[in-house]
Amino acid sequence: MIEKIPCIIDTDPGVDDAFAILYAAKHPKLELLAITTVFGNVGLEYTSRNAQLLAGYISKPIPVGLGHKQALVVRKDDAGVTHGSDGFGGRYDTYKEHASTRPLHPNSVQLLKETLQKSSESVVLFPIGPLTNIASLLLAYPELKPKIRCISLMGGGFHHGNRTSIAEFNILSDPEAARIVFESGCPIVMAGLDITDQASINQTELNRILEIGQKESQLLYEILDLYSSHDRSLHDPIAVMAISDPELFEFVNVHVDVETGGHFATGATIPDFRKKSNQSLSQVKVAMKLEHSSFMDRLIEILRKDA
Ligand code: RIB
Ligand code: CA
Repeated sequence: MIEKIPCIIDTDPGVDDAFAILYAAKHPKLELLAITTVFGNVGLEYTSRNAQLLAGYISKPIPVGLGHKQALVVRKDDAGVTHGSDGFGGRYDTYKEHASTRPLHPNSVQLLKETLQKSSESVVLFPIGPLTNIASLLLAYPELKPKIRCISLMGGGFHHGNRTSIAEFNILSDPEAARIVFESGCPIVMAGLDITDQASINQTELNRILEIGQKESQLLYEILDLYSSHDRSLHDPIAVMAISDPELFEFVNVHVDVETGGHFATGATIPDFRKKSNQSLSQVKVAMKLEHSSFMDRLIEILRKDA
């Protein structure tokens, strides 16, 4: 009997978030305990209702919590148009009848805390949006860190950014929160743009989503079709797969700092690859390489399963 890994997804759905959430709900090695929402791709009202829509496609009742609606330190909001005005490529209204009708938990940080306390095992946290909720949890309840098995996040990148030349959206959306998480002492696994931009899909692969034939496949196809006209990379599922399917990836261990000041580099995730870097500094397990066809095949294989 496979021992399932208990996990929580903290998310700003968001098209690629949708794939990550359903992947985690369907994966035989994972037990999705809760979904906590945060602002990001779109405002909190939309990310939360999109999370409820996805929860409606999952047979097991999954609590959904309402998280932070803005960063710890507010800068200009620039979610862009990648995910559409409703976060789901304008398709929410077409599919809203499937949404979960369970009431939202009013506070994601409390839901995170309660879920960690209730779990008999340590829990993997999958932040795939801005890190505001996770930073708040770590600041408010540091005594719960031993219940966090690791924080496997989508965010950052060493070679390039996507919102500035060097900053990635999730980190730049709340650099202070990201710095709190990276300096927390919790084990961190990072899926940054260096690897997630290897998970870009072409039209043939997009069509494979439609052929899955699950009840949510048409929704996933339609929102991905719009999203991919702006960004072809399926970023968020990589953070989940780094834990559920680590054999698909190559990792490096390196100290990472988050720039919270600066002019050109605010939100950058800065690795210390020096040979003589201080080994007492925290090390992050960073996914750096994937084999694309194996990634796609595994994604489709798991999405074919019932949620
Ligand atoms: O930079 C990509 C990340 O920003 C993904 O998590 C995407 O959903 C957006 O939140
Ligand atoms: Ca996201």
